[in-house]
Amino acid sequence: MSAPRAKRITLGVTGGIAAYKAAELCRLLVKEGAEVRVVMTPAAESFITPLTLQTLSGHKVGRTLLDASEEAEIGHIRLADETELIVVAPASADAIARMAAGMANDLLTAVVLATRAPVLLAPAMNVNMWENPLTQANLARLLNTGRFFTVGPDAGALACGWIGAGRMMEPAAIRDAVVERFARAGELAGKHVVITAGPTFEPVDAVRFLGNRSSGKMGFALAAEAAERGAHVTLVAGPVSLPTPSGDIDRINVQTALQMQAAVQQAAANSDAVIMTAAVADFRPLDAASGKLSRREGPTPPLALTANPDILAGLGASRTGGRPLLVGFAAEVLSDPLALQARALQKMAEKRCDAIVANDVGDPSIGFGSEENAGALLFADGAVVDLPQASKRAFASAVWNHLVGRLP
Ligand code: PMT
Repeated sequence: MSAPRAKRITLGVTGGIAAYKAAELCRLLVKEGAEVRVVMTPAAESFITPLTLQTLSGHKVGRTLLDASEEAEIGHIRLADETELIVVAPASADAIARMAAGMANDLLTAVVLATRAPVLLAPAMNVNMWENPLTQANLARLLNTGRFFTVGPDAGALACGWIGAGRMMEPAAIRDAVVERFARAGELAGKHVVITAGPTFEPVDAVRFLGNRSSGKMGFALAAEAAERGAHVTLVAGPVSLPTPSGDIDRINVQTALQMQAAVQQAAANSDAVIMTAAVADFRPLDAASGKLSRREGPTPPLALTANPDILAGLGASRTGGRPLLVGFAAEVLSDPLALQARALQKMAEKRCDAIVANDVGDPSIGFGSEENAGALLFADGAVVDLPQASKRAFASAVWNHLVGRLP
């Protein structure tokens, strides 16, 4: 395993029985050559002593916000600025909720709020707490910022006596996730990638539009992952309510397919890859009414449509020398994987792209608006990669793992 040499890692330990495993994780990270600063919440001290973690990390443990002696040694803002990665292990339901609310009422949440570094969460809690929609919504909020990612939890017998998901991953698995993160950090350095996300809204009149249920989460996750790996990203976003992920990301907001086409064509000209996750409307109203249509103005007006340009097919037809790499997403309501892949292959050929993700959007747990996705990544050279169901961020990471080596 290649070591995260001289990397500055903050290990956040929150209150839960799995806190005892933080000692082993701290030891493993130090063994890998990382400089580890431990920050404990007050609740964590009920499960493991600061002295244990101080001895293993070789540094005084951060315990209190606004403590004069601790601030003199390394202030919370300096810690937030200098850290390259925060690992919260275990990440309790309470800590996840407070981070999601943007609270900073202890040293750990203050450092998490103040840092620009990525945050790896290793959740650990009772299965009912884990499955509670409030916990899942809090976690989704963090993941959608593009700055947080998770390892685990595992399923099995829990300390509380229940059996199910909620067990913290073993320290070695968390260490592996950290090492993998650092190994990938510069993989896309010097590359410019264009990613489209969200729906397009095609105006019917001054207040109404034709749109779809794309939330933008898939495209934003791909953008966050690319930026995390060192790419310069142009994110062409339809009307969505997501924050721009941190990193070197230029966001261009558009409403319609024609606006998206103009933005993509311009950005693609000097790019290495274009990934189209946007659900572009195939049709738009022929003539949008200038005011607000009203039933008082007479009989129901007909809605005549005209075709929008196919942005991806346009790029496929006009590029030369295989640059940029073109990747599409095929959204189909087809639960049979073979039929789904056959349809996606057909789209890839029609649009002359290099790869396409076959996406069954008929399943509400994946696809439009959901927190997770699943499918297959198909390449024009015949390679097929199965992408199992995972958070959109983990799905994005898997997609990039297979694209990195194919960039021109
Ligand atoms: O945004 P989320 O809520 O996270 O949902 C993600 C998603 C389900 C929207 C995404 O994973 C997805 O499947 N995106 C593709 C949506 C789509 O429009 O699929 P399509 O099969 O109609 O189009 C195939 C490809 O052509 C797509 O890459 C699309 O961006 C592109 N296209 C389509 C029409 C058009 N006029 N121009 C295009 O470039």
